[in-house]
Amino acid sequence: MRGRLIFLVTRNIHKFNEARRVLAQYKIAAAMLRMGTVEVQSDYLEEVARFRALDAVKKSGLPIIVEDAGLFVRALKGFPGPYSSYVYRTIGSLGVLKLLEGVEERGAYFKSVVAYSCPKEGVKLFRGVVEGTIALEARGSSGFGFDPIFIPLEGDGRTFGEMTTDEKNRLSHRSRALRSFAEWYKAASEFSSPSSQR
Ligand code: IMP
Repeated sequence: MRGRLIFLVTRNIHKFNEARRVLAQYKIAAAMLRMGTVEVQSDYLEEVARFRALDAVKKSGLPIIVEDAGLFVRALKGFPGPYSSYVYRTIGSLGVLKLLEGVEERGAYFKSVVAYSCPKEGVKLFRGVVEGTIALEARGSSGFGFDPIFIPLEGDGRTFGEMTTDEKNRLSHRSRALRSFAEWYKAASEFSSPSSQR
Protein backbone atom coordinates (compact mmCIF):
# COMPACT_ATOMS: atom_id res chain seq x y z
CA MET A 1 0.00 0.00 0.00
CA ARG A 2 1.29 3.46 -0.87
CA GLY A 3 1.87 5.99 1.87
CA ARG A 4 1.60 9.75 1.91
CA LEU A 5 5.37 10.28 2.09
CA ILE A 6 7.52 10.09 -0.99
CA PHE A 7 11.30 10.50 -1.28
CA LEU A 8 12.64 12.71 -4.06
CA VAL A 9 16.15 11.62 -4.99
CA THR A 10 18.07 14.78 -5.81
CA ARG A 11 20.95 16.96 -4.70
CA ASN A 12 19.27 20.06 -6.11
CA ILE A 13 17.52 21.99 -3.33
CA HIS A 14 15.70 24.25 -5.85
CA LYS A 15 14.25 21.23 -7.58
CA PHE A 16 13.22 19.76 -4.24
CA ASN A 17 11.55 22.99 -3.09
CA GLU A 18 9.57 23.25 -6.32
CA ALA A 19 8.47 19.62 -6.07
CA ARG A 20 7.62 19.81 -2.37
CA ARG A 21 5.22 22.69 -2.95
CA VAL A 22 3.45 21.00 -5.85
CA LEU A 23 3.06 17.68 -4.01
CA ALA A 24 1.80 19.46 -0.87
CA GLN A 25 -1.21 20.62 -2.90
CA TYR A 26 -2.12 16.92 -3.18
CA LYS A 27 -1.38 16.27 0.51
CA ILE A 28 1.66 14.20 -0.41
CA ALA A 29 4.65 14.94 1.84
CA ALA A 30 8.07 14.93 0.18
CA ALA A 31 11.47 14.27 1.73
CA MET A 32 14.78 14.96 0.03
CA LEU A 33 17.02 11.93 -0.42
CA ARG A 34 20.52 13.13 -1.26
CA MET A 35 21.83 10.01 -2.88
CA GLY A 36 23.98 9.35 -5.94
CA THR A 37 22.45 7.18 -8.68
CA VAL A 38 23.84 5.63 -11.88
CA GLU A 39 23.46 8.01 -14.80
CA VAL A 40 23.19 6.21 -18.12
CA GLN A 41 24.18 8.10 -21.27
CA SER A 42 21.07 8.35 -23.40
CA ASP A 43 19.36 10.62 -25.91
CA TYR A 44 16.13 10.11 -23.95
CA LEU A 45 15.29 11.62 -20.57
CA GLU A 46 12.88 8.71 -20.02
CA GLU A 47 15.69 6.18 -20.16
CA VAL A 48 17.90 8.19 -17.80
CA ALA A 49 15.05 8.60 -15.29
CA ARG A 50 14.02 4.92 -15.46
CA PHE A 51 17.54 3.65 -14.69
CA ARG A 52 18.05 6.15 -11.90
CA ALA A 53 14.72 5.18 -10.31
CA LEU A 54 15.54 1.47 -10.34
CA ASP A 55 18.98 2.14 -8.91
CA ALA A 56 17.60 4.41 -6.17
CA VAL A 57 15.03 1.82 -5.03
CA LYS A 58 17.69 -0.89 -5.04
CA LYS A 59 19.98 1.21 -2.85
CA SER A 60 17.36 2.69 -0.50
CA GLY A 61 14.48 0.21 -0.34
CA LEU A 62 12.14 3.24 -0.22
CA PRO A 63 9.30 4.52 -2.41
CA ILE A 64 11.02 7.17 -4.50
CA ILE A 65 10.69 9.54 -7.39
CA VAL A 66 13.51 10.88 -9.50
CA GLU A 67 13.11 13.73 -11.93
CA ASP A 68 15.16 14.43 -15.04
CA ALA A 69 14.72 17.53 -17.13
CA GLY A 70 16.28 19.31 -20.06
CA LEU A 71 16.09 22.44 -22.20
CA PHE A 72 15.39 21.75 -25.89
CA VAL A 73 16.27 24.66 -28.21
CA ARG A 74 14.57 24.39 -31.61
CA ALA A 75 17.21 26.34 -33.59
CA LEU A 76 19.81 23.92 -32.18
CA LYS A 77 17.74 20.87 -33.16
CA GLY A 78 16.82 20.12 -29.56
CA PHE A 79 20.28 20.66 -28.07
CA PRO A 80 21.18 20.53 -25.18
CA GLY A 81 18.14 18.32 -24.29
CA PRO A 82 19.30 15.33 -22.21
CA TYR A 83 22.78 16.88 -22.06
CA SER A 84 21.56 20.04 -20.33
CA SER A 85 23.34 19.37 -17.08
CA TYR A 86 26.74 19.04 -18.80
CA VAL A 87 26.09 22.09 -21.00
CA TYR A 88 25.02 24.14 -18.00
CA ARG A 89 28.18 23.16 -16.10
CA THR A 90 30.44 23.96 -19.07
CA ILE A 91 29.15 26.89 -21.14
CA GLY A 92 26.18 27.89 -18.93
CA SER A 93 23.31 30.22 -19.83
CA LEU A 94 25.67 32.76 -21.39
CA GLY A 95 27.08 30.06 -23.66
CA VAL A 96 23.58 29.19 -24.91
CA LEU A 97 22.88 32.88 -25.51
CA LYS A 98 26.11 33.07 -27.53
CA LEU A 99 25.08 30.08 -29.66
CA LEU A 100 21.87 31.94 -30.48
CA GLU A 101 23.47 35.29 -31.27
CA GLY A 102 21.80 36.73 -34.39
CA VAL A 103 19.32 33.81 -34.49
CA GLU A 104 15.71 34.95 -34.84
CA GLU A 105 13.98 31.61 -34.16
CA ARG A 106 14.28 31.48 -30.37
CA GLY A 107 11.66 28.81 -29.61
CA ALA A 108 12.52 26.28 -26.93
CA TYR A 109 10.87 24.03 -24.41
CA PHE A 110 11.68 22.43 -21.10
CA LYS A 111 10.73 18.80 -20.64
CA SER A 112 10.54 16.94 -17.35
CA VAL A 113 10.27 13.22 -16.73
CA VAL A 114 9.29 12.01 -13.26
CA ALA A 115 9.98 8.34 -12.57
CA TYR A 116 8.21 6.68 -9.65
CA SER A 117 9.23 3.33 -8.22
CA CYS A 118 9.01 1.43 -5.00
CA PRO A 119 10.22 -1.99 -3.81
CA LYS A 120 8.45 -4.85 -5.61
CA GLU A 121 6.96 -2.50 -8.21
CA GLY A 122 8.24 -1.46 -11.63
CA VAL A 123 8.81 2.10 -12.78
CA LYS A 124 6.06 4.47 -13.87
CA LEU A 125 6.88 7.59 -15.89
CA PHE A 126 5.14 10.97 -16.02
CA ARG A 127 5.99 13.81 -18.41
CA GLY A 128 5.55 17.58 -18.44
CA VAL A 129 6.48 20.21 -21.02
CA VAL A 130 6.49 24.01 -21.06
CA GLU A 131 6.90 25.92 -24.33
CA GLY A 132 8.72 29.23 -24.45
CA THR A 133 11.49 31.29 -25.99
CA ILE A 134 15.11 32.00 -25.17
CA ALA A 135 15.52 35.60 -23.96
CA LEU A 136 17.99 37.98 -25.60
CA GLU A 137 19.79 38.37 -22.29
CA ALA A 138 19.72 36.69 -18.86
CA ARG A 139 17.16 38.23 -16.48
CA GLY A 140 16.44 37.46 -12.83
CA SER A 141 18.20 35.45 -10.17
CA SER A 142 15.50 33.14 -8.83
CA GLY A 143 15.43 29.43 -9.47
CA PHE A 144 18.37 27.61 -11.01
CA GLY A 145 20.00 26.48 -14.24
CA PHE A 146 18.63 28.08 -17.38
CA ASP A 147 15.77 29.85 -15.57
CA PRO A 148 17.13 33.39 -16.30
CA ILE A 149 17.07 32.84 -20.09
CA PHE A 150 13.72 31.02 -20.46
CA ILE A 151 10.48 32.96 -21.10
CA PRO A 152 7.40 30.70 -20.86
CA LEU A 153 4.83 31.35 -23.59
CA GLU A 154 1.90 31.32 -21.18
CA GLY A 155 3.54 33.87 -18.87
CA ASP A 156 3.71 37.67 -18.91
CA GLY A 157 7.09 38.05 -20.61
CA ARG A 158 9.19 37.47 -17.49
CA THR A 159 11.80 34.71 -17.44
CA PHE A 160 11.51 31.88 -14.91
CA GLY A 161 14.44 33.59 -13.19
CA GLU A 162 12.22 36.60 -12.51
CA MET A 163 9.41 34.53 -10.96
CA THR A 164 8.72 33.26 -7.48
CA THR A 165 8.67 29.48 -6.99
CA ASP A 166 4.86 29.48 -6.96
CA GLU A 167 4.69 31.49 -10.18
CA LYS A 168 7.12 29.13 -11.89
CA ASN A 169 5.14 26.16 -10.54
CA ARG A 170 1.97 27.42 -12.23
CA LEU A 171 3.58 26.87 -15.64
CA SER A 172 6.64 24.69 -15.39
CA HIS A 173 7.44 21.36 -17.01
CA ARG A 174 8.35 19.94 -13.58
CA SER A 175 5.08 20.94 -11.92
CA ARG A 176 3.15 19.45 -14.84
CA ALA A 177 4.94 16.11 -14.63
CA LEU A 178 4.54 16.10 -10.83
CA ARG A 179 0.83 16.91 -11.00
CA SER A 180 0.33 14.05 -13.39
CA PHE A 181 2.25 11.78 -10.98
CA ALA A 182 0.31 13.07 -7.94
CA GLU A 183 -3.06 12.47 -9.57
CA TRP A 184 -2.13 8.91 -10.49
CA TYR A 185 -0.57 8.28 -7.08
CA LYS A 186 -3.58 9.50 -5.14
CA ALA A 187 -5.98 7.48 -7.26
CA ALA A 188 -3.78 4.37 -6.96
CA SER A 189 -3.40 4.83 -3.17
CA GLU A 190 -7.13 5.21 -2.64
CA PHE A 191 -7.75 2.13 -4.75
CA SER A 192 -5.32 0.05 -2.69
CA SER A 193 -6.30 1.38 0.75
CA PRO A 194 -8.24 -1.06 3.01
CA SER A 195 -11.22 1.32 3.38
CA SER A 196 -11.81 1.31 -0.38
CA GLN A 197 -11.92 -2.49 -0.42
CA ARG A 198 -14.84 -2.87 1.94
P1 IMP B 1 18.59 17.61 -14.26
O1 IMP B 1 19.58 16.62 -14.73
O2 IMP B 1 17.19 17.14 -14.30
O3 IMP B 1 18.92 18.20 -12.93
O4 IMP B 1 18.59 18.83 -15.28
C1 IMP B 1 19.63 19.04 -16.19
C2 IMP B 1 19.91 20.50 -16.35
O5 IMP B 1 18.81 21.12 -17.03
C3 IMP B 1 20.09 21.26 -15.06
O6 IMP B 1 21.44 21.27 -14.68
C4 IMP B 1 19.65 22.66 -15.44
O7 IMP B 1 20.72 23.37 -15.97
C5 IMP B 1 18.62 22.40 -16.52
N1 IMP B 1 17.27 22.47 -15.96
C6 IMP B 1 16.45 21.44 -15.64
N2 IMP B 1 15.30 21.89 -15.13
C7 IMP B 1 15.41 23.23 -15.11
C8 IMP B 1 14.54 24.25 -14.66
O8 IMP B 1 13.43 24.05 -14.14
N3 IMP B 1 15.01 25.49 -14.81
C9 IMP B 1 16.20 25.79 -15.36
N4 IMP B 1 17.05 24.87 -15.76
C10 IMP B 1 16.66 23.59 -15.65
